[in-house]
Amino acid sequence: MTTPLLQFLWRGDIVALPNIAPARTLLQLLREDLNHSATKEGCNEGDCGACTVVLGEAQGDHIKYSAVNSCIRQAHSIHGMALWTAADLAAPDGTPHPVQQALHQCHASQCGFCTPGFAMSLFGVYQNQVLKGAPVTRTLAQEALSGNLCRCTGYRPILDAAQHMASLPRVHLDENELLQKLELLTHTGQATEPDFSYKSPANLNDLLATRKAHPGAQIVAGCTDVGLWVNKLHMDFDQVLDVTRVAELKTIELQDTHTVIGAAVSLSDAFAALEEDRPQLHDFFSRFAGLPVRNSGTLGGNIANGSPIGDSMPLLIALHASVVLMSVRGAREVPLENLYTGYRKNVIAADEVLAYVRVPRPQPNEFSRVYKVSKRFEDDISAVCLAVNLQLQDGQVIAASLGAGGVAATPVRASKTETALCGQPWTQASVLKVVSTLRAEFQPISDMRASAAYRTEVLGNLLQRFWLETQGHAHTSLASLNLDTFHVAGENA
Ligand code: FES
Ligand code: FES
Repeated sequence: MTTPLLQFLWRGDIVALPNIAPARTLLQLLREDLNHSATKEGCNEGDCGACTVVLGEAQGDHIKYSAVNSCIRQAHSIHGMALWTAADLAAPDGTPHPVQQALHQCHASQCGFCTPGFAMSLFGVYQNQVLKGAPVTRTLAQEALSGNLCRCTGYRPILDAAQHMASLPRVHLDENELLQKLELLTHTGQATEPDFSYKSPANLNDLLATRKAHPGAQIVAGCTDVGLWVNKLHMDFDQVLDVTRVAELKTIELQDTHTVIGAAVSLSDAFAALEEDRPQLHDFFSRFAGLPVRNSGTLGGNIANGSPIGDSMPLLIALHASVVLMSVRGAREVPLENLYTGYRKNVIAADEVLAYVRVPRPQPNEFSRVYKVSKRFEDDISAVCLAVNLQLQDGQVIAASLGAGGVAATPVRASKTETALCGQPWTQASVLKVVSTLRAEFQPISDMRASAAYRTEVLGNLLQRFWLETQGHAHTSLASLNLDTFHVAGENA
């Protein structure tokens, strides 16, 4: 079996590598094939950020910079992109980059194992914010570094460095030259042999035809979960079908009634689009894994993966989102809650791909919130997630839509609770009655994240919290609380 030539831009040159196995990760490529040890391996599952690198992708007349976890990123997925690692920041004469100067001047490193990863996340901020004149606020710095763990320095000096780097003399990349080289790469297509091992079609027709011909190929997008199957379960794939280069699936379309998000759109970009309509969702989106995972992972991938604790689905179910499944036979639209038939099982046929996610735009009088309860505030998986979308008129519930995660084998709609809410006065008494319905609607399991009893209890508590917020109680977040004095039944959402 032939693998296509992998080509990317690194240190000003085009790197061309033949025979890279389809499941090879970018970190393996760097450390084992290219003997590049500056990029570190920590957890090898996208949780610690030690392996963070920055990818550059041509987008029209500019470059989009994304910090990503190289340990769970497929090597082939960076074909046609530019790559930077922690060893690529200093100037040719050795002058440290402002990111490095700031880390040094703020005493933001001790053992240093995490530092290359932090430096690369900061480099992403430098390119995307500092050089564009955007301020680096403390909140922005925290969100940008949410996927990087440090076990000895403490985060205060690292956050100081994130803000300090903006005050140092600017260092610019030659983007015109980079764009020219990336343009050169786009004209070097990957091999299209019929018996492929890694295929990344450039258009939808090619994708659907390939899927029909190879229904057993492993479909990948951002690989933020498939990367774990490779690293932790030692899975291998003969054939990989990568959807991230399909032009039609990289689009976000704002229609009158829906926001339509292509399956190859990153979680970061999808969340930014959804926030345009519902800014209150920002806090929730910023807690979805860490930024490097959101930069690689896709909304379509999170949905197709179908984990019962996937964070986007409860919200999308509550918003009445649907997915468009496509094949050479045509397209069909499926309400999201009907996509799943069991634990990580779905109705997607062997020749189909999940192509688009359609999210209804806000309704008049809509009040929507989503709550995530996890052991760690950032970069963690939900124990319980509840999304509520309510329409009120004259103090009565005229429409209720609730999605839940972590309480069943799939993400689910709380249909009985919705029925119990509709037509009721929106009062504390009726909410307390419905809380019992919600708690009785699911039979969650106990696992390492939470006990069944805890999940059931918290689910009802979250509905009560929602009621309080509709009464004008300010939305609370950890950032605004004194953690030494505030505890709500172990909840850290
Ligand atoms: Fe920990 Fe990659 S090694 S995120
Ligand atoms: Fe040691 Fe961060 S400096 S882990």
